[in-house]
Amino acid sequence: MAHALVIGNWKLNGSLHLVSTMLFDLQYALRGIQNCKVVIAPPVIYLGNVKQAICDSFIELGAQNVDIHASGAFTGEISSAMLKDIGVKYVIIGHSERRILHSETDQVIARKFYMLKKEGLIPVLCIGETEAEYQEGKTKEACARQIDVIMHVQGSEVFNDVVVAYEPIWAIGTGKSAHPEQVQEVHSFIRTYITQKNANKASLVTIQYGGSVTSKNAEALLAQPDIDGLLVGSACLNIESFIEIIRLAAKQKQVA
Ligand code: PGA
Repeated sequence: MAHALVIGNWKLNGSLHLVSTMLFDLQYALRGIQNCKVVIAPPVIYLGNVKQAICDSFIELGAQNVDIHASGAFTGEISSAMLKDIGVKYVIIGHSERRILHSETDQVIARKFYMLKKEGLIPVLCIGETEAEYQEGKTKEACARQIDVIMHVQGSEVFNDVVVAYEPIWAIGTGKSAHPEQVQEVHSFIRTYITQKNANKASLVTIQYGGSVTSKNAEALLAQPDIDGLLVGSACLNIESFIEIIRLAAKQKQVA
């Protein structure tokens, strides 16, 4: 992987004030940074403001969700074409908060994946095991199941040029990050699993880790060969932490 990929997922946080202050500081701090792609995924209402704020930089725009429909009578929803229209490039889908709190099934997520690919946007497909699955040693099984649902519907080649974010559910927002070596084992499994189904193409899949990433644990995670980047939640709202994580990602890829 030539570049690391760090995505900051603001979740339901932020304000116009945060957009202007954080993005100004971020762009200033990241001048000259190479080897790391940076994506900001704010709440949808701030996408336009973030787009404006990052227009002169290499930072790219991400969204946290998309609807399964292209258009029509679906009050409150946002389509993949609309996201593309305003300059979004990456879209997070399958996040466990949406799976659990909004009852999104694997089938709904597969549909979202399809809509994004059709529009030429990059899905950031979150997968990962529950705490119970982890305790039972079923992590790989859970990840394979979530990948299979999409492959069965759309074929293995749809995994070209996508981002898979491995996010153990028990590690999200808990301060309990997974151990780097365990994450490496799961990422290697995910890459091999996709490769076996789609020979020659799996190297195009970027595999991120997410779940209580901080500026303290980022370096050890990024040192693992199959951790291509990080999906950062709470630590991305702290400008110093987020800048440090991006610097570590860029440095790690320079020495790799
Ligand atoms: P966290 O969130 O970094 O706050 O654990 C990660 C995520 O939900 O993507």
